[in-house]
Amino acid sequence: MNAYNNFAKLYDTLMDNVDYNRWYKYIKEILNKYRYEPKTVLEMACGTGSLTKFLCEDDYDITCFDLSEEMLSVAYDKLRKYKNCEILNQDMTNFDLNKKYDLILCLCDSLNYITDREDLINTFNNVYNHLNEDGMFIFDINSYYKLNNIIANNTFVEDREEIYYIWDNFYDDENDQCEFYLTFFVKEAEKYLRFDENHIQKAYKTNEIIEVLKSSEFKNIDVYEGFTFNSINETSERINFIATK
Ligand SMILES: C[S@@+](CC[C@H](N)C(=O)[O-])C[C@H]1O[C@@H](n2cnc3c(N)ncnc32)[C@H](O)[C@@H]1O
Repeated sequence: MNAYNNFAKLYDTLMDNVDYNRWYKYIKEILNKYRYEPKTVLEMACGTGSLTKFLCEDDYDITCFDLSEEMLSVAYDKLRKYKNCEILNQDMTNFDLNKKYDLILCLCDSLNYITDREDLINTFNNVYNHLNEDGMFIFDINSYYKLNNIIANNTFVEDREEIYYIWDNFYDDENDQCEFYLTFFVKEAEKYLRFDENHIQKAYKTNEIIEVLKSSEFKNIDVYEGFTFNSINETSERINFIATK
């Protein structure tokens, strides 16, 4: 997979429809609802650090990591002024930070990038081992419904004058994976430079995630429709999980 390389430089521009402030408020609402006050936070797959920035401003003791050096380079520019944030290049399927945290986050469907069940098991085990007793794990996924019915076998085009981009998707029924073929044309001087990336997201059924969380010994597993405390239904697009050690 060739993902989040050159795309990293355009990520914040193309994701300007994502309201990270709302996302952060939702995390705070969860913490309030569960009457939990973490001090140390690990954000896995932090990307360009847009959510991390809110954590930094709230004075948590933060570690964030991502697999993509290019995404981290953008995150570094955004986060280097904060003294309470450590930025690392790590793989969530295989990390050992020699530290435990009160809260671990993995947001914006980053978990769907784990396409192999063994890797999912390893990730949840890693998270469990990096949590303090009673520590909390919050993450979300693109639902099976969304990947199958909205994104799958669909093509999206965005024309932003300086950036023209095509997002062509193919659904692999055998493996329940959605393949994204991204083509970007970026204006530089009077030319458009082209580059391509391929991403793969796994379509997980909610019960499969719950089953793997349980096998990693997580307890108090709650599942909500993204950004709410409502139950999920067949057409929920973003599913938010909360589990404790
Ligand atoms: C959709 S982006 C979300 C980024 C960020 N969480 C946000 O909210 O903007 C998915 C991120 O997951 C990262 N990622 C994918 N697989 C990973 C892995 N195995 N370990 C760590 N990061 C990973 C990618 O590099 C990318 O930055």
